Amino acid sequence: MRTFLAVKPDGVKRGLVGEVIKRIEDKNLKIVGLKMIWLDREKAEKHYEEHKNKDFFNELIEYITSKPIVAMAIEGQNAVSVTRNLIGATDPSEAKPGTIRGDYGLEISENIVHAADSPENAERELNLYFNEKELQEY
Ligand code: TYD
Ligand code: MG
Repeated sequence: MRTFLAVKPDGVKRGLVGEVIKRIEDKNLKIVGLKMIWLDREKAEKHYEEHKNKDFFNELIEYITSKPIVAMAIEGQNAVSVTRNLIGATDPSEAKPGTIRGDYGLEISENIVHAADSPENAERELNLYFNEKELQEY
């Protein structure tokens, strides 16, 4: 199965793209799509549409559109839950050491990475960021 992961603006700015990729590859997950993009407001709002009524929504959209992100399509057995386990809890101050957020983050508003939280969202997000030709079979 496939999932979607993105290194968020703070992760890119801090030079953590390589670290995130290393952890994915070390886990033996397969990167099958990869690109850097700068989200516009429309696409960012689509990505986070489930949160549009939350009080943090505006801040979230400002942040995710503030600098480029690195988007990845990841393949492997149970890729959705395995990748969520690699990134750790949403709030880095509570995320366990050994997870990406647990090792590199401190505040919930800048938590370094995004990963889809369900197979349905993974499909939706992969379609938002990649077309079929950009996903490699190898
Ligand atoms: P959410 O989907 O709940 O978390 P996750 O990224 O782990 O799937 O929330 C999306 C993002 O919104 C989250 O990564 C950071 C931000 N956020 C806040 O800024 N404040 C909050 O209270 C929450 C719940 C999320
Ligand atoms: Mg989420």
